Amino acid sequence: MTVPPPKYHEPVQGTVFHGDGREEELLQHLQSLSELTTESTSDLSLHDRSQRVLDAIHEFGKRENRYLMSVGDTKGRQVEELIREKKPKLILELGSYVGYSAISFSRHLPELHPSSIYPADWSKSNDPNDDRAGYVSLEKSDVYGTTARGALKLAGLDRNVKIVIGGSSSSLRSLRKTLNMPRPMQFDMVFLDHLKPLYTIDLKVMEEEGLVGPGTILVADNVVKPGNPAYLSWVRATPAQKRHSLTLGPLTKQPAPTPNPSDADWQEAFRSGPIDETRWVPDEAEGVKAQGDPALKYTSKMLDGWDPYTGEKDACEVSECIGRED
Ligand SMILES: C[S@@+](CC[C@H](N)C(=O)[O-])C[C@H]1O[C@@H](n2cnc3c(N)ncnc32)[C@H](O)[C@@H]1O
Repeated sequence: MTVPPPKYHEPVQGTVFHGDGREEELLQHLQSLSELTTESTSDLSLHDRSQRVLDAIHEFGKRENRYLMSVGDTKGRQVEELIREKKPKLILELGSYVGYSAISFSRHLPELHPSSIYPADWSKSNDPNDDRAGYVSLEKSDVYGTTARGALKLAGLDRNVKIVIGGSSSSLRSLRKTLNMPRPMQFDMVFLDHLKPLYTIDLKVMEEEGLVGPGTILVADNVVKPGNPAYLSWVRATPAQKRHSLTLGPLTKQPAPTPNPSDADWQEAFRSGPIDETRWVPDEAEGVKAQGDPALKYTSKMLDGWDPYTGEKDACEVSECIGRED
């Protein structure tokens, strides 16, 4: 794609771009819309019903001229196409926010896997081998999780999606227990869209926990804006390079613990190898440490896209785990 799509709108720029009450207001607004009530959507397909909710979320941001940090429809559609092509059954998302991506991605599951069992956890499962599909989304904020649940209900997808509230790194460590997974199982697809400096440590946690493995497809948003060299270095490195990186000593200077490190901070982190999470861990990781599973091999490529608000170039990195090299 060479020509950027039209911008959503020009949001008022400022230092506060979420968490000022707009997420609660969004849910109230969605629940007040007559076109989203069950009666007026009962004749619609799941796709059309969920599209109404996605459009209403977008319209709310536009009308209020407020930025909503959703994946947006350009990159979102690319991921939807990937889902239709690869047909994952179990999808994990890091960062639900108001549920936009969870709605647009999970709505394909019932059509792709009509005979599978929902909801997305095993708490009422009698058969450990049941054929299950579902979407699990991890979100740190209780308020955003509540908005996402409300939006998913209006979209008719509340049974298909389970929102787990808590910091991602510790939620991932206990995810099997939380979901009552009856046996070791991995996710077919993972969408990483939460705090950027956590992508690498959380991927390593998922590798250690066996939540990702051969066959898993990772989709990581915002690898151009603001960028995520530490993450890209891990998914693009060979097993030998990853093993070597783990033998490197601690960084001499740590990058600032901010969600948007400056270029200089990233350079410093990158120069000495992948970020050393034992010394540079955002608060959200709650002291979680992980070395990952360097034996896992990925093929990785960028899906070019655009930020829906600014029209600036941004992209998702799509990495497919193709096996192990022990
Ligand atoms: C960019 S938004 C996600 C957007 C969403 N995926 C979409 O496209 O509609 C990032 C979300 O990650 C959440 N988040 C930040 N740090 C987190 C953490 N440590 N664990 C879980 N969620 C986190 C934020 O609260 C925010 O809701």
